[in-house]
Amino acid sequence: MVGRITPEIKDQLLSRVDIVDVVGTRVQLKKAGKEFTACCPFHGEKTPSFYVSPAKQFYHCFGCGAHGNAIDFLIEYDRLGFIEAVEELAHQAGMELPQDEQTVVRGPDPAPIYALLEQAAALFREQLRRHPDAGRAVDYLKRRGLSGEIVQRYGLGFAPAQWDLVLRTFGGDPETRARLVTAGLVIERDDGKCYDRFRDRVMFPIHDRRGRVVGFGGRVLGDGEPKYLNSPETPVFYKGRELYGLRESQQAERRPPRMLVVEGYMDVIALAQFGINYAVATLGTATTAEHVKRLLRSAPELVFCFDGDRAGRDAAWKALQTALPLSDGQQPMRFLFLPDGEDPDTLIRKEGSAAFEERLKGAMLLSDFLFEHLSKGLDLGSSEGQAKLDNDAKALLAQMPAGTFRQLLEERLAGLVGVGTRAPARPGLGRGAPRRPRATAGAAPARLTTLRLAIALLLDDPSLARDVDARRQDWQDLDNPGIALLRQIIDITGANPDITAAALCERWRDTEHEKTIRRLSDSGLIAHIPTEGRESELAGALDALAREAARDRRWRMLTARRPEPEPEPEPEPEPGADEDQT
Ligand code: UTP
Ligand code: MN
Repeated sequence: MVGRITPEIKDQLLSRVDIVDVVGTRVQLKKAGKEFTACCPFHGEKTPSFYVSPAKQFYHCFGCGAHGNAIDFLIEYDRLGFIEAVEELAHQAGMELPQDEQTVVRGPDPAPIYALLEQAAALFREQLRRHPDAGRAVDYLKRRGLSGEIVQRYGLGFAPAQWDLVLRTFGGDPETRARLVTAGLVIERDDGKCYDRFRDRVMFPIHDRRGRVVGFGGRVLGDGEPKYLNSPETPVFYKGRELYGLRESQQAERRPPRMLVVEGYMDVIALAQFGINYAVATLGTATTAEHVKRLLRSAPELVFCFDGDRAGRDAAWKALQTALPLSDGQQPMRFLFLPDGEDPDTLIRKEGSAAFEERLKGAMLLSDFLFEHLSKGLDLGSSEGQAKLDNDAKALLAQMPAGTFRQLLEERLAGLVGVGTRAPARPGLGRGAPRRPRATAGAAPARLTTLRLAIALLLDDPSLARDVDARRQDWQDLDNPGIALLRQIIDITGANPDITAAALCERWRDTEHEKTIRRLSDSGLIAHIPTEGRESELAGALDALAREAARDRRWRMLTARRPEPEPEPEPEPEPGADEDQT
């Protein structure tokens, strides 16, 4: 596995690849002055509003706002995870990434393992066509209602009732044999004898999102235990990361309206056969945060589907707890509970895809499921019931990212447990600290306050920092989270005068400031300021911040002389004061 991707590595990588090549091999670009343009690959359009800037190493769409560097482009366009995107670019640039120490010690070269798994998948497909006993498997698939086309699309195969098909086909020498064991295809007994793991089963190959076979699920034909046998975790197969059907889904539909998580492989395939191409299944394990992140990158909405019974409800509640720390309300998450005795496979065959999609659209929102589940069995007319709900809900809401969605749920909770007793907890407000209305109060998310303006100018053209006096202290004690950010930007650009805008923004990936940086790195925000005027615009912004800081200092001095007041009730929150304060 790849080790930690440091800022230096990202800088190096982004300076070695050219975003024009990265985008250009995937989208037809046309030269337009200093930039390149195309119809935006991220939304449907007839006239080009998508630009790629070789100077800034950014892409930007004036139609849908898509924006970012080469890494972002691969994440969005190829639907890769961050590490995968970095690996892909490093590969293109011929750059070696540092390896995780653990895997260096333990890890065999994964390439031959991938190759063996790929060959095994082909072998199983071949058996489904040619093995003398394949008729049973074909009959079974027909009885399950699968079409030949869908069997092909999902690459289903057959492992005949033999102890050594895989062994004999691949395992001549001890080295290959050891690899087959590592790949999870062959089991080695204590006495050193080996045998095939999968026998007399229908085989479901599991792909990673780059399309490589990483493991298998195998189902018995008819009854038998275990019903499904899965590959064990191997150096190339982490169940907490992969999802069955994700690759196939992406190939069928670039921009699905939502992603749907179901329990079984058969459910995924049946849904696809009925035209619902966006279902995936976990690999016999619970949904992980990694799964949820991956799915949220793939579609604007996420639906979890469960049986309506007790076990299904419990599994759904677990999924909710996993998803909660990732819910900011920007991408709705829903929970669909199926009628008793049905799974998606049986249900879609009964009622068809239109009715099933209606269920998805009307599925219970995460926020509703949360309060419904927590209120169950409580008497919310009593103080005891209210106190219990308050306690349980607070513990969960505390895990959510700060922001409007969490605040709305806190307000909803306050409504349920007695009105007007207290203000809901507001993130980011110091208790009782003297505050004055600030210039940024009520700022809309992308409004350009002075501070944001300064940051946006520097992100757009890091070379502007050359003219900033880095020793200048007068604005730095301003009490605003964005100040530290501005400081960092000036420090980084000071140390790397030739850094590109793209590499600069990359420094904040996966930090608390990532969203702010992303929003402010959108050069559309300052497009109205002519290039010649930017230097003085930045100087003016810093002066204005310095004046604000001076006012703050005077205010602090004044209030510090007053004796500590008795503990006072929480002040009324100011409108908008708790918004993103940059
Ligand atoms: P189900 O038993 O609900 O499977 O298990 P299903 O998809 O409805 O199967 P069919 O319709 O009888 O073929 C759901 C999922 O749980 C995992 C598998 O991933 C399966 O798809 N599972 C189930 C196992 O890993 N092992 C088992 O023995 C059973
Ligand atoms: Mn089933």
